[in-house]
Amino acid sequence: MGFSDRIETAVSDAIALGQAGSTPGKLKSALHYAVSPGGARIRPTILLGVAAACGEDKPEISNAAACALELIHCASLVHDDLPCFDDADTRRGKPSLHRAYSEPLAVLAGDSLIVMGFEVLARVAHLDPMRSVQLVMTLAQKTGMPGGICAGQGWESEDEVDLKAYHSAKTAALFVAATQMGAIAGGQDPEAWEELGQRIGAAFQIADDLRDALYDAETLGKPVGQDALHARPNAVAKFGVQGAIDQLHDSLSGAIASIPSCPGEAQLAQMVQSYAKRLTPVAPSKSTVPGE
Ligand code: IPE
Ligand code: IPE
Ligand code: MG
Ligand code: MG
Repeated sequence: MGFSDRIETAVSDAIALGQAGSTPGKLKSALHYAVSPGGARIRPTILLGVAAACGEDKPEISNAAACALELIHCASLVHDDLPCFDDADTRRGKPSLHRAYSEPLAVLAGDSLIVMGFEVLARVAHLDPMRSVQLVMTLAQKTGMPGGICAGQGWESEDEVDLKAYHSAKTAALFVAATQMGAIAGGQDPEAWEELGQRIGAAFQIADDLRDALYDAETLGKPVGQDALHARPNAVAKFGVQGAIDQLHDSLSGAIASIPSCPGEAQLAQMVQSYAKRLTPVAPSKSTVPGE
């Protein structure tokens, strides 16, 4: 099975578990709505790429790790779109979950997906208890406080925000989770994999800031101009468009060199290279270019 099939199967299986038995029908349906159809699935794909590069010997553990990470990511999007955060009406080209269902169901669906992510990791403990615990630990650290998505979103309630710390926690944390969980699932030490995740994650959020400023909602499938609207610290406001692109290139420039030596290093380098190309924004579709 290819990476994409492995991810989709693992995510569907996890959702089916959460829908089993006599459960509240709307929440059951909302769980499926939150994960399907998916977005780019970039985090679990990187995770499986790293696991494979590390010489993966227990693919069921990698599948569980990829699934758990994507569930947390999907939950973060559901919560991020809520009126108390970004108040976004669309996501992945369809109404955001609270628009399609309700705010209580969006809070509950997000909560359920977060808990489900950890359950998925616990369910593979019999295959390798140590890897399962390490995966739980890493995912927890990249999700909550002090260094995870919660911290990232928490910066939005502060008067003074350090852009690097904000981006690092709200976005890069899950990319570090992707590289480190891939290494753990593949039976390797995760420490050496932090820099690769940081670099891809930092570049990814700068690219998202650029798209938010330069693209249109139809192309992205989510609202644009959100950073300016909500006065969020962002790379375009801080550095201008060209400055943000330069920062993006800076982050990516050392990414390939940071790949630790491993059996599948060359193939992983190719994968990172192709992501790096896709991250660089193409010509803007808006006539006015904020920040210039
Ligand atoms: C969106 O992430 C949230 C950010 C960190 C910018 P993605 O662009 O990976 O979202 P999907 O999963 O592909 O929809
Ligand atoms: C991305 O935040 C990080 C999380 C969703 C936690 P954004 O608010 O910048 O992401 P989009 O643009 O809504 O996808
Ligand atoms: Mg946000
Ligand atoms: Mg948002």
